[in-house]
Amino acid sequence: MHLDKVEALINFAASLNLCSVIMSYKSILIQTDEKSIIITINRPEALNALNKSVFDDLEQFFLHDIKGYEDIRGIIITGSGEKAFIAGADIKEFSEFGQEELRLLSRRGQIIFSLIANCGIPVIAAVNGFALGGGCELAMACHLRIAAENAKFGQPEVNLGLTPGYGGTQRLPELVGRGRATELLLSARIIDAIEAERIGLVNKVVPIGESLQAAKDMIAILATKAPIAIAKTLQCIEDYYQPDINGYESEAARFGECGTTADFVEGTEAFIQKRKPIFLNK
Ligand code: CAA
Repeated sequence: MHLDKVEALINFAASLNLCSVIMSYKSILIQTDEKSIIITINRPEALNALNKSVFDDLEQFFLHDIKGYEDIRGIIITGSGEKAFIAGADIKEFSEFGQEELRLLSRRGQIIFSLIANCGIPVIAAVNGFALGGGCELAMACHLRIAAENAKFGQPEVNLGLTPGYGGTQRLPELVGRGRATELLLSARIIDAIEAERIGLVNKVVPIGESLQAAKDMIAILATKAPIAIAKTLQCIEDYYQPDINGYESEAARFGECGTTADFVEGTEAFIQKRKPIFLNK
């Protein structure tokens, strides 16, 4: 989903009073260093379950505040504590919702996760412990996933009388294929990090306590590449999954647009001159 569409949906949700704009964060922590931002979902007492407050904060960051971080080359999302990345949507918050409230909650989660997927900067989920339901869905909305050995993934919504609501029925088949996704979605089976890596749900498994560092190491590699080319590549990949977009046309257009950048000139010149390129994000 393109950002203008996402923004229009956010505005629509705001007009219905579903999203509040907040100026500071209550349920996430933001740390920055030279090249990366670490976002920690910070509700350890509820295993970092995604409630309205977490959504308000994520929306504030990915819709607004991210624009203030031009030099950032990667974003890491992780969960507070060793036990959980995110144990799902906050069941206590929506347990008394009716049909329309659940539908709108689902749309809001989908929109916020689309903001993450379309933010133009690589987002890596550093998965420590449980990534269940909305937690697995948030990890899948990220561009890459690094799992600690204690990570556990699953979509247990059918145990609650629910379908997944934040994109799980769409992104899980994209990542692991329809057959495997159908089995996981229908059985609510929880899988460990090794199986998640084997079926393509995660990119890498690392020892407990090392997922954050592994994500930082990955961003250090990505930071050596041309940022505009990285953003456009992410957009092409996203376009592959949009039924109303011809991915090949999108790729050709993005390829052409790169020709207008100083980094294209620098990258090709550096190759010819047998030196490392210095990209300026221009
Ligand atoms: N929502 C709200 N609270 C949650 C939560 C959730 N998803 N997951 C855990 N918690 C809370 C527990 O209620 C508990 O709080 P109290 O101490 O106040 O009772 C605290 O976190 C610690 O959890 P447990 O005592 O249950 O910890 P455990 O180690 O025994 O079990 C667990 C861990 C297996 C992850 C278990 O907590 C669990 O099954 N959680 C729910 C997982 C789930 O069903 N997720 C899907 C949610 S629905 C969804 O996400 C829909 C969607 O797609 C949008």
